[in-house]
Amino acid sequence: MTAPVVIAVDGPAAAGKGTLARRLAAELGLPYLDTGLLYRAVARRVLLSGGLPTNPQAAEAAAAALTPEDLQRPDLRGPDMDQGASQVAAQPPVRALLLDFQRNFAARNGAVMDGRDIGTVVCPDARVKLFVTASAAARAERRWLERQAKGEPIPLEEVAAEMAVRDARDAARDVAPMRPAEDALVLDTTGLDADAAYEAALQLIRARLDA
Ligand code: DC
Repeated sequence: MTAPVVIAVDGPAAAGKGTLARRLAAELGLPYLDTGLLYRAVARRVLLSGGLPTNPQAAEAAAAALTPEDLQRPDLRGPDMDQGASQVAAQPPVRALLLDFQRNFAARNGAVMDGRDIGTVVCPDARVKLFVTASAAARAERRWLERQAKGEPIPLEEVAAEMAVRDARDAARDVAPMRPAEDALVLDTTGLDADAAYEAALQLIRARLDA
């Protein structure tokens, strides 16, 4: 029996991973998991209980109590959850508690999974590893446009600053920091729209799968 196909899609915030990974999963007939949602759901639990995402006891208890329904909540996006998720994600016990779920998901039927450490830690044997990135300016502008569309008037500089804090924390943490796996294919989406990024990713993946 051949191992199920796992495709890792890692990279920083607003590089276009989510849209891309979802489309790839549909095209390749694989289940999709947005692993950032797990950390967002942990942060949401902590915040709802009146705790701080930086508090290790609160974060670990929230991770241990996580339920599948938590991943369906409508309020997992937004600046508080962005930072809170990144803060709980820096804590080793939280990451350890979420690891089995992610590995089991991938092992069941294969998967396209997007996150920060899929290619390096969660699924180091993934058949294809993409590291999707873009310039900080392009990523900040994309997130700013999203927030404008939601009716949130916020200066571009503020969005850029929030994103820089989060990316720095995600890349500098001791456990499972965000970084490309050694065998990752890097896709820079700076000058690409969603369709062009998708076509480029599909070509890279097909070449790897056929190799
Ligand atoms: O992909 P996202 O923006 O929804 O992720 C939210 C935060 O969760 C991100 O800032 C860091 C953390 N995260 C992580 O540490 N590892 C993952 N595999 C996915 C997300």
